[in-house]
Amino acid sequence: MKQRLYVLKNIKGYIYHVRWAVIGLIVLNLISIPISLISPKIFQILVDEVMYKRDSQKFWIVVVGMLGAFLIRTIIDGLSLKMNNCIHNSFVFRLRKDVFAKYRGSPFSFIEKKDVGELKMRMIDDVDALGDFVGEQVVNYLYGILLLTFTVITSIAISWRMTVLCILVLPIVFIVDTLIGNGTKQINMEIRSVNSRYYTSTHNSLQFWREIKVQNSEEVFIKRFRGFQEILATLGLKSIRFWAYKEVFNDFKSNYLTKVLVYMIGAFFVAKQEISVGTLIMFSEYFSMLFSSMESVNAKRIALKTNSPYYERVFETFSFPEESKGLVSMKKLNDCIRFDDVCFSYVNGQSVLKHVDLQINKGDYIAIVGKTGCGKTTLAKLLLGLYEKETGTIFFDDEDITNISTENMSDLIGVVMQDNYLFNMSIRENLLIANEDATEKDMIDACRMANIYDFITEQPNGFETVIGERGVKLSGGQKQRLSIAAALLRHPQIIVFDEATSALDKQSEDIINDSINKIFENLTVIVIAHKPATVLRAKKIIVMKDGRIAAQGTHDELKNNNKYYMNLVEGMSNEERKQIYS
Ligand SMILES: Nc1ncnc2c1ncn2[C@@H]1O[C@H](COP(=O)(O)OP(=O)(O)OP(=O)(O)O)[C@@H](O)[C@H]1O
Ligand SMILES: [Mg+2]
Repeated sequence: MKQRLYVLKNIKGYIYHVRWAVIGLIVLNLISIPISLISPKIFQILVDEVMYKRDSQKFWIVVVGMLGAFLIRTIIDGLSLKMNNCIHNSFVFRLRKDVFAKYRGSPFSFIEKKDVGELKMRMIDDVDALGDFVGEQVVNYLYGILLLTFTVITSIAISWRMTVLCILVLPIVFIVDTLIGNGTKQINMEIRSVNSRYYTSTHNSLQFWREIKVQNSEEVFIKRFRGFQEILATLGLKSIRFWAYKEVFNDFKSNYLTKVLVYMIGAFFVAKQEISVGTLIMFSEYFSMLFSSMESVNAKRIALKTNSPYYERVFETFSFPEESKGLVSMKKLNDCIRFDDVCFSYVNGQSVLKHVDLQINKGDYIAIVGKTGCGKTTLAKLLLGLYEKETGTIFFDDEDITNISTENMSDLIGVVMQDNYLFNMSIRENLLIANEDATEKDMIDACRMANIYDFITEQPNGFETVIGERGVKLSGGQKQRLSIAAALLRHPQIIVFDEATSALDKQSEDIINDSINKIFENLTVIVIAHKPATVLRAKKIIVMKDGRIAAQGTHDELKNNNKYYMNLVEGMSNEERKQIYS
């Protein structure tokens, strides 16, 4: 009961929305109790009065009574089913929406550590399990308890000695049921845990199928897939075994315990003329009801225990940390972005950024260079507010960015990351995801600026061309250009290109850079780059080394003083060299 109340307390807000359906369902169940209790009495009249005393008039009363009870029962069952569905659907809809909102509202750094399969099961299967709680664990449970109470009282009223004798077998039933229930619970938990890993693995293998094919690792994934299937098949067999035990035992209960046992004991009392044959039939019916309601209450008790971890997982979602909502709303950058002694690590004790001091003025075009893994992308992610820095402050003008919401920061900063995500939708839909208010003209302008417009118009379906999962139907350069168009469509104040132009040929890169320079004169551009040609356009170059800013300055200041920069310049092609020194 304590557990039931605990779950109820956690979902009371959702129950409130369907309170009328819940009340309706309770009322219907209350009405159905006397209807259930009346049927055995009708049987008794049929045997004792109609058959034994040959009272043909009562035959018609019995017929009308039976038809009436059947009709009311059918109507009640139909309405109950409808209300149960209504409660389940409304409940699941709201709860799932809130769980999804919780995922979205949690800090990126928190949610990225979670397992995709586990998150999916939480949102789909666990929420579904909770959707049945009100109908099963509240209404049906109460109905079971009430019916049990009334049938016990009625059975005792008919014959307390028969009731006591029949009830003596119940503890055995209770023990066997609990043993089977516990076994089923154990297997279900194992199946769930394997399923969660199986979903993640299948999700990854389908999402990254191209990469897997390129690496020739299909066999590895097929083996893993087969492995999961084998484990699930073994567990499935075990589960079927328990299901079979349950079925056999149920059959034994309903045919032998409730019928044979009751008729044997009852025959003794009939022979002693303590009860009539009709009363025995009525008693047998009541005892069946007593038995099934007791079983149903016990099954609910076991199901509550089995499902509790799933309920708990949904409640745990509600205590996921929330991203700061942002107290301050920033519309534009007036002065500068400033990193003030910023330190950061993904894993405790392994610093990725170390005491970073950096100022990026409005309208600057800066380039960040440095060896792979030195922390360039991390710096951009921190600026976007995707992670909380450990110490230090990042200022947006004079405002600490921890006071600005991530959504607000995403409006201010357009990003074209190394691993751009494009959805398996049309080009238009992908662009509208970036800015749902964009007009046709906005889209054309952004695509022109990103030098992708001609490619789009060459496609038979133009903007309606579907680009495949993660944009597989596009080349690397086309994907980047489309991502750039999407970023531009948001009219950001600052734009961050994380090696965004690495897959572009020089001509496309020049066109994009010229467009950006021309159209967004007030735009602040941060380019994280390895390519010298991109770096050269920058007013200021930041050289990063092992999470620190090793040097910063113009090309002329760095070309003779910074070793990494000198190496970078040395690695240039002749054409690039000509461009610098001309
Ligand atoms: N989500 C993460 N969790 C844990 N460690 C991470 C995560 N992302 C990056 N790192 C680690 O942080 C360090 C800096 O990574 P970052 O992506 O900032 O490098 P980078 O300078 O952008 O490199 P590249 O030039 O290869 O893109 C690396 O050692 C990387 O392994
Ligand atoms: Mg990077």
